[in-house]
Amino acid sequence: MLPVLQWPEDGNNLRNPRQMSLSCLGGAFLFMAEMKNKLLLLFLLFCVACSDMGTNPKEEEIPETVSYKNDIQPLLNSGCVNCHGNQGQLSLATYAKTMKGGKSGKVVIPKNSAGSLLIKKLKGEASGQRMPPKPQSPWADIKIELVTKWINAGAEDN
Ligand code: HEC
Repeated sequence: MLPVLQWPEDGNNLRNPRQMSLSCLGGAFLFMAEMKNKLLLLFLLFCVACSDMGTNPKEEEIPETVSYKNDIQPLLNSGCVNCHGNQGQLSLATYAKTMKGGKSGKVVIPKNSAGSLLIKKLKGEASGQRMPPKPQSPWADIKIELVTKWINAGAEDN
């Protein structure tokens, strides 16, 4: 492309090696410069794409409609049901049991995540231990947000 356009048209360059190598160098330089710009552009596009992903992690990971069956129960099964199964006071093993609550009464208040003991325990904002208890690590924010969204959408058996 560019090197060809820069080439002297009379063909003199073939008889003058010095001029030829100079225009070759110039052409190569322009070519490199153009490639560099393209690479830079590609790199910038890449950065924009990446930063876009970085600004919307929640939208990517939290579904529009959170499902109890597909999203919430599997979380409770993997982190809570070994203690809150059938043996103790509060069972989180099924939708009905989760809604029934424990010794403190209901742990899920539909459309009121801030007033739901389940969320307060997950965040460590209620009395007693933060759930799940040590040495297990607290849940990642994204998991708590998933449960929060489900409760605020009405805590349905969906
Ligand atoms: C290692 C066993 C264990 C695990 C795992 C566990 N809990 Fe608990 N949970 C307890 C104990 C013991 C209590 C009662 C003492 C307290 O409240 O600190 C309790 C209390 C609670 C309460 C209050 C119940 C009431 O009626 O007062 C809630 C809500 C709760 N847990 C939610 C959870 C959730 C959600 C998980 C999963 C992230 C979980 N727990 C994991 C042992 C556990």
